[in-house]
Amino acid sequence: MAVIGAGAVGTALARRLVQAGYAVRAVVSRTVADAEALAEQVGGAPASDRMAAVPPEVRLVLLCVPDDAIPAVAKQLAATEHPWPQTVVAHTSGGRSASALAPLADAGAPTLSFHPLQTFARDTPPEAFDDIAIAIEGEEEALVAGRALADALGAHPVVLSTADKARYHCAAALASNGLAALMGTVQEVLSTTSLREADPTALFGPLVEHTWANVQERGAEGALTGPVARGDRDTVAAHLEALSETTPHLVPLYAALSTEMARMAVRRGSLAPDEARPLFKQLREAVQSAQGMSR
Ligand SMILES: NC(=O)c1ccc[n+]([C@@H]2O[C@H](COP(=O)([O-])OP(=O)(O)OC[C@H]3O[C@@H](n4cnc5c(N)ncnc54)[C@H](OP(=O)(O)O)[C@@H]3O)[C@@H](O)[C@H]2O)c1
Repeated sequence: MAVIGAGAVGTALARRLVQAGYAVRAVVSRTVADAEALAEQVGGAPASDRMAAVPPEVRLVLLCVPDDAIPAVAKQLAATEHPWPQTVVAHTSGGRSASALAPLADAGAPTLSFHPLQTFARDTPPEAFDDIAIAIEGEEEALVAGRALADALGAHPVVLSTADKARYHCAAALASNGLAALMGTVQEVLSTTSLREADPTALFGPLVEHTWANVQERGAEGALTGPVARGDRDTVAAHLEALSETTPHLVPLYAALSTEMARMAVRRGSLAPDEARPLFKQLREAVQSAQGMSR
């Protein structure tokens, strides 16, 4: 195999596949030093910043470059001499479909998108692939290779339609990046109180962990507690007032999340629609007033 893009995902994938018995025959990246650093970790494969460095015996090429770079890299690769019809080419983007590899498909390569549903940094250990889902999308011949590759990683493949990719990736981004951003806002609100010196992860960790355990056990709707789920409008009003005094830019986020909480509580039958209606109105008005203030 060859890895293009020696970043977070390229590094984790290459290290894991070497553990699984794959041989890395080339690492290509924009910066030669980064390609060399990865090559060293996976058996000393040739490292380069040129696509032509992919040797002809390679039968699997993994493009682990930023989403926006995929079409250009695919074009450069397709322009090299290579037996493309015998070479599976995958990219690891969650949002882009296999069609981002069109120049390689035109050259005869089976192409797929192969998205590990995990968050990676450059030092993420290969075990991060254990039991995760890998969303695969593409033509049937490429999907067969994608299933085998997911198995080799110790993960399990889930097949996505091209039309679902953006929505699927939106859900993944909310689960990971959305959660990180939410914890950032928790920290920001905390910093406006006398607990500003406290470690927010130590303070809120047990609450977050217990909530997550409840979500796992009862689902998101079943895990919902708190003033919105109880229809406690005075407490919600106090939250909105406190936020508008110190962090008014967080009012729309609080209102949007609370609106979803109220919808969930109505769906599960713990909040009557008659009780929810004034709550929705209260939250809508808070957003309008926050927007009015920011004008
Ligand atoms: N990180 C995650 O949590 C995660 C999870 C699932 C999927 N993905 C997807 O995986 C892909 C890679 O993401 P990442 O997080 O690994 O990004 P990253 O850490 O930024 O790594 C991207 C790598 O691609 C190289 N690169 C950039 N442009 C290039 C080009 N034109 N030609 C060759 N190499 C190029 C970079 O160059 P240098 O040589 O300069 O380092 C870098 O090593 C993306 O499609 C992303 O959506 C990411």
